[in-house]
Amino acid sequence: MSMADDLTEIILAPLRGVTGLPFRQSFCAHMTGLDRAVAPFIATVAGERVKPELLKSLDPAAQPAGLPLIPQVIGKDPHQLRVMLRAMKALGYCDVDLNAGCPWPFVAKKGRGSGLLRDDCALAAMLEAGCDELGPGHFSLKVRLGLDDASLLPHRMPTINAFPLRELCIHPRTAKQMYAGTVDLDGFERCLGLSALPVVYNGDIRTPGDLFRLRDRFPSVTRWMLGRGIVADPFLAESIRAGRDVWEKGRFLAWHADTLGRYAAESSGDHALLGHLKELWSYTVTALQNGDRLWSMLKVSRTRAEFERILSLFPIRRREGVD
Ligand SMILES: Cc1cc2nc3c(=O)[nH]c(=O)nc-3n(C[C@H](O)[C@H](O)[C@H](O)COP(=O)(O)O)c2cc1C
Repeated sequence: MSMADDLTEIILAPLRGVTGLPFRQSFCAHMTGLDRAVAPFIATVAGERVKPELLKSLDPAAQPAGLPLIPQVIGKDPHQLRVMLRAMKALGYCDVDLNAGCPWPFVAKKGRGSGLLRDDCALAAMLEAGCDELGPGHFSLKVRLGLDDASLLPHRMPTINAFPLRELCIHPRTAKQMYAGTVDLDGFERCLGLSALPVVYNGDIRTPGDLFRLRDRFPSVTRWMLGRGIVADPFLAESIRAGRDVWEKGRFLAWHADTLGRYAAESSGDHALLGHLKELWSYTVTALQNGDRLWSMLKVSRTRAEFERILSLFPIRRREGVD
């Protein structure tokens, strides 16, 4: 089954430390199938000015052509949000997303990320500031179902529906689940039914079959966000569009070499580079045959040369049974 004829958008998820500028650049140099990307979050700052350094990864001149980018902000202070949005507008961005999903306790406890869902007034104040600053249809929200359980988001839907947001992206887990356990599709369905906004589905799409099954269950959803699935298998969006797995070793290795080069160019040394590579490959191995064995070797490598040597000796093959 192909998605080519459908009115469907495939969106790259924000993964801080993973889907930053080097990943997006090498993706666009070797892969296709994504319609747009949401950038990993940038935190609001105190004061009236945002240091350019903070927005370096959003430099319009460095962004790959063909992958429109939506910056994302995390914070809880409406004035600080306005300051950040003005700085992003000054770079030429018309659309910005607000993070109300980050599950880390040190973030949520301060009322940021998923913690913003706890306080209806604080959430409303942020949505009001964002919609006012950017105009109707240019501010969006990314959420989880709740903090400890999935009952919170349904309660927040009237507040969210009251603002002219571009879309609502739902990752149907609670913050307590972090990134583990299963997605709660009944919880997603409940909020989808309550939403007056276009809804983006996000969570655990790792194969074309995963997306097709979700599309069968939620035919009204036309926006799909891919995170760990496309980091593990950079062919995923293309495979979804083709309706079959199009993974190919030559292109995969060229993509990897390019990504490594881009990370190396922006890393301060071998140690920092190795950190980036290990984070990326902790996902990549899940799409490969004997990925566990490969990961057990890669994760203990101590230099870039060692990391590359392991990869050059390992028989890289696509995992079997991808639907
Ligand atoms: C390492 C990591 C970093 C993430 N950073 C962000 C972020 O900056 N902003 C955000 O909204 N979500 C972030 N997320 C959540 C993802 O965007 C996504 O919602 C989640 O991984 C579920 O989708 P997936 O199963 O397709 O990966 C992050 C997730 C991971 C694993």
